[in-house]
This record gives sequence, C-alpha cells and structure tokens, in this order.
Amino acid sequence: MASLRKRVLNEFKQYFGYVPDLLVRAPGRVNLIGEHTDYNDGFVLPMAIDRAVWIALQPRQNAQVVLHSLDFRDCVRFSLEDIGERDKGWGEYVRGVAWALQQAGHRLRGWEGVVTGDVPRGSGLSSSAALELAVARAFAAASDIPWHPPEMAQLCQRAENEWVGVHCGIMDQLISACGERGRALQIDCRSLRTEPVPLPTHTQILVLYSAAPRNLAGSAYNQRRSTCETAVRQLQQRWPAVTALRDVSSTMLAQAADLLSPLQMRRARHVVSENERVLAAVAAMRAGDAQTLGRLMQASHDSLRHDYEVSSRELDLLVSLAMQTPGVYGARLTGAGFGGCAIALVQPEAAAAARRAIIEPYRAQTGLRGSTFVTMPTAGAEVWRLRR
Ligand code: GLA
Repeated sequence: MASLRKRVLNEFKQYFGYVPDLLVRAPGRVNLIGEHTDYNDGFVLPMAIDRAVWIALQPRQNAQVVLHSLDFRDCVRFSLEDIGERDKGWGEYVRGVAWALQQAGHRLRGWEGVVTGDVPRGSGLSSSAALELAVARAFAAASDIPWHPPEMAQLCQRAENEWVGVHCGIMDQLISACGERGRALQIDCRSLRTEPVPLPTHTQILVLYSAAPRNLAGSAYNQRRSTCETAVRQLQQRWPAVTALRDVSSTMLAQAADLLSPLQMRRARHVVSENERVLAAVAAMRAGDAQTLGRLMQASHDSLRHDYEVSSRELDLLVSLAMQTPGVYGARLTGAGFGGCAIALVQPEAAAAARRAIIEPYRAQTGLRGSTFVTMPTAGAEVWRLRR
C-alpha cells in the first residue's frame, strides 16, 4: 500500500513536473456471504480489502480532465463540457462517473492526474468499482463537493449501469465507498443501512484466485437478474406486497411451487436462503463463532453451485481443496461467480501452509496459474490533501 502511494506520487511528478495537492485511494472488495442478493433488495456482508486504486491529482482552472494510467499505459482526456460518446475500455469508468455526477447536478472542475492500482483486473474483486470510487473521490475533492459515501456509491452504480452498460447491484460500489478498517459491513441493500461486523477473533481471509477466464459473465448475470424479477411477478399474484425476493421467506416459497417454474424456484431458493444465511453469519461473527460462519460459507457455495448455477469447475475445485485443508473453517466463491475468486476463512497460523496446500494441487489439476493472498478489512474511499 505504501509503495503504491509513493509510486503514483513519483509518477505524477514525472508526468507533470510538480508535486500534486491531492491523493485518493478506493479499495476492491471480497464478499464474505450474501451473493446475488443485492439486486434482490437483500443483505450482503462484504469487506473492503487492502488492494486499491490510487490517483494523484491536481485541480485545473478549466474543464479538462487528463488521466494517465500506469497499468494500461494509456491516457484519457476529455472536456467536462462535452464528455463524448460511450466507448470501450478503462476510460469509460472515468467518463461515466463524470457523467453521473453531472446528471446529479454537481458542478465539476477539471483535473490532471495519474492512476494505478493493485486490485487484480477481471478477477471478481471489483477493480471497476474501485476505479469508479477513486474517480468520484477525485472529482469531489477537486470540485469541493461534500463526500456522502452512500450517495456517491449510488452515482457510481448509475455510471456502471447506464454509461458502461453493466447491470450490477449496489454492493461493490457501496463497500468501496463505505468500508471500515478491521470490519466487514452488513449492508441492507434496500435501505442502504450499513452495520460494521468484526471477523471472529483469530481468523483471516484468504483470497483464492482461479485465473480462469470469466466467460459469459455479463449475459449470464443479466439472465439471473431477470429470472428473479419474473419470479417476483409470479409471487405477487398470491402476495401483492412482495416487491423483491427480499420480501419472501422460506415458508412462503414452500407454498409457491404452483406459481414458479422449477428453474425460477431454484433461483429464488438461493436468494431467499442466502438472505437468511447473511443474518445467521452476522450473529455468528458477533458471537466470535468461526465454525458456524465457516459452515454458512460452505452452504452459500453449495447453493450458488447447485441452485443459482454461477460456480465453475475451477471455483468448485478451489473450494473443495480449501475444505480439505487443516485450519480452514469454510470457503466459497465470492462476487458474481463464473470464474474469478473464492475465499477461505482460515486460522492465521495455518494460512501460509493452507495457501500452498490449496494452490499446488490446483495448478497441477487445471494447468492454470492461480494465486492466493491473505487480506484484511480496510477503509473505504479516502482522500489526502498533501502539504507541499
Ligand atoms: C457482482 C455485482 C454485484 C453483486 C455480485 C453478486 O459483483 O457487481 O452487484 O450482484 O456480483 O453478489
């Protein structure tokens, strides 16, 4: 972390020839439990991780935005008076956030900056939400906009939904905006209320990266969303007050076999049971009960695998290797699925051996690189005003 901060400031000096006034950071995330529940108005339990996007920047007196990316070896330039057309690539997140802030009525100033990050891209750890929140924080600092994390998260989600065209829920942006050091956050995705929850003492989170391509992720994600929405319309015939799967209990679902197709039933069963598991996980964490939390993570993975069908051969292998490893309480895929990462809840003294015990057979059996790292909960998007 310290090294990225230093690097982005040094590079800024190389590009622009002076030391900037502002530095921002916004983190990626893992989700401990509560998957595919956010767009069903349900509960999630993510934590911001110690991998983040960093931007060093200086406000300008004009409406130009100039941002050099060290990771893409590319530069995005546009005028706030004419943000331009949608295009593809990392610059869309920058333009999209500017667009969403302007749509909300914020008056923006231009700035010049340099961006880098260490959230692995395309790995399901929300590198795009981290970039969006870093850009939002940069605009807010350069334009003197008060920083209200949940509102900024919503604007970044809007940028992703309407500008970039990915129909994600609110979880990734909200945790990147609101994360707390040393805590996971229980988020009610209907009210956007957040509640910090500590990891059980003497546990760590291990990230297990599958290095498998996330094929079909976009279209399959949208399909899952629309199946949930059609299931809600069916359930409304009997329960008119239901506006999202959040309003459905297991008992109600057990009485709904005549309303839903077998596929809708399986998808709904995942969402309804996953919401219940999040609440049980929060109780287990508050009681310091790592065993129960681990069992709930396992049950979440099984439900995502069989009922929601968003796991993959590689994620299943990582989870099953983790479960055979001493010191691991539980493991599950994290994020949208279809590739990306799994996480494991592990005893700290067992973590180093567990990383080897999982990744070596994984590499041998799949031929994929795969990698692991231990992570910890960090703060959400932040800004530093540098004294020169
Ligand atoms: C992606 C989306 C989130 C959420 C998860 C699944 O990360 O961006 O909004 O839906 O998938 O829980």
